[in-house]
Amino acid sequence: MTATVIDGQAFAATVREKVAAHVARLKEENGITPGLAVVLVGEDPASQVYVRSKHKQTVEAGMASFEFKRDADLTEAELLALIAKLNADPKVHGILVQLPLPPHLDSDLVINSIDPAKDVDGFHISNVGLLGTGQKAMVPCTPLGCLMLLRAQHGSLSGMNAVVIGRSNIVGKPMANLLLGESCTVTIAHSRTRDLPGVVRQADIVVAAVGRPEMVKGDWIKPGATVIDVGINRVPRGEKTALVGDVDFASAAEVAGAITPVPRGVGPMTIACLLANTVTACCRAHGLPEPEGLTA
Ligand code: GUN
Repeated sequence: MTATVIDGQAFAATVREKVAAHVARLKEENGITPGLAVVLVGEDPASQVYVRSKHKQTVEAGMASFEFKRDADLTEAELLALIAKLNADPKVHGILVQLPLPPHLDSDLVINSIDPAKDVDGFHISNVGLLGTGQKAMVPCTPLGCLMLLRAQHGSLSGMNAVVIGRSNIVGKPMANLLLGESCTVTIAHSRTRDLPGVVRQADIVVAAVGRPEMVKGDWIKPGATVIDVGINRVPRGEKTALVGDVDFASAAEVAGAITPVPRGVGPMTIACLLANTVTACCRAHGLPEPEGLTA
């Protein structure tokens, strides 16, 4: 293997330490405790695991964590009323509604009812628009985490060719906008892209976010490129299952200059960036300086 393996787990720990240090300062100097409210509707097991992790890490960073667990038959009116209450609560600086919502609830309507200043997921249409026009936004957590890893690896990304594979609203599109903001030349590739291997071979930076296990092969990678693997796919492996990314790690690591593994790559950065966004939202709400190195 020739590539540097980017340790997302260790990097996420440094982000959490910076968040905790900023939280401690806010408490001491301003008497403010940043607060994150997480709303979970229904019993989706994966969502329950995420929400538990978010709660634990929020508390460990010294912030207030408010959890609202509701049954799957919650009405849209009840959910909108809860969000209105959280929008008005000065102790709550960040609001996250765990997705997916049960099918009778309109996710777009619900997300767009969150105060954009408290939208720590960066999913509200105003934040999408602010990011797309290069203005100060709340930035979705996973792409923000990828950007932090890329900046740590390269410093300036200016002029680099970046290929983002995947066009989701949660990762692909905001990632492309962030990379444009760093003055990369950006291509968004997807399932209909012609000659995907040929497109990826042009990239100095590859961000794979398609949800297809080990799709990106080593011979698609330009020698020395940086590969960021956002995929988390559970696949059968002998008698058991294994977690793999969207990149065939073994072959890609022979060619890339640097690569994130799965697990312990991008994954841990998502919650670390959620904490970072909560502190940022708190500082903005109070007109205080934003934490350095924790924003886009
Ligand atoms: N479900 C899976 N990932 C996420 C996320 O980043 N934010 C929200 N709100 N729901 C999710």
